[in-house]
Amino acid sequence: MLDLHSHVLPGLDDGAADMAEAVAMCRLALDDGTKVLAATPHWYPSRQPPTAQDIALAVQGLRDELAAQGLPLDLVAGAEVALDPDLPRLARAGVLPTLGGGPYFLLECPPHTSPRLLPDLIYSLRLAGLRPILAHAERTWEGGRDWGWLSGLVDQGCLVQVTAMSFTDRLGSGAKKAAEALLTQGLVHLVASDAHSASWRPPGLSEASAMLERLAGPGAAEALLCLAPAAVLAGEEPPPVPLPTRRRMFFWRK
Ligand SMILES: [Fe+2]
Repeated sequence: MLDLHSHVLPGLDDGAADMAEAVAMCRLALDDGTKVLAATPHWYPSRQPPTAQDIALAVQGLRDELAAQGLPLDLVAGAEVALDPDLPRLARAGVLPTLGGGPYFLLECPPHTSPRLLPDLIYSLRLAGLRPILAHAERTWEGGRDWGWLSGLVDQGCLVQVTAMSFTDRLGSGAKKAAEALLTQGLVHLVASDAHSASWRPPGLSEASAMLERLAGPGAAEALLCLAPAAVLAGEEPPPVPLPTRRRMFFWRK
């Protein structure tokens, strides 16, 4: 499995507190079946964020430590870029940190961001050659029922990422309902851990993998946890994801 959202780099944000915790998180990811982990520290344009080079250096530091400890986890550099009116200019300047240096990047919107703010921004980012991935949409717009506006953004070239724990009920029933609704409507392209620590928000996708298979059937977990993230890192279009059937949803909710 490939996990494209984590706060594993020590000292850059509210994720891993130090190198020991970063290594512990990587060990948990590996033990759970993750082979590739993207390090995506929070990136706030107005708060002097780390440069792509700063992030690359931190990734290399962790890679060196993993190699020293014999842990064969592949790390990819990225960031979780916060919504900001300056993003189009930064995109044109080529300074937005993207996943593995490709066209895709994680875009984090504040809770309940008005969907009206997004189409023009997405248009500008696409013109600059970038593909935003809306981070943890089920939490940002928790409680949402009508996701028609999100389909419009997907038509513009956005992808949607949902947090693995949302499918397992650990982030509350609101996030779980929203995650299920998005999956049912074909609006989930990636599932990732958004891991912040080795304890309260650890990495790990296998539990969500089992849930996705139960909910959407064979092939759903592979599409969302393997094929789609691999396509994103290759700068390609993600594959279609099997949709949950009514029968499966009925048994899922029992
Ligand atoms: Fe995050």
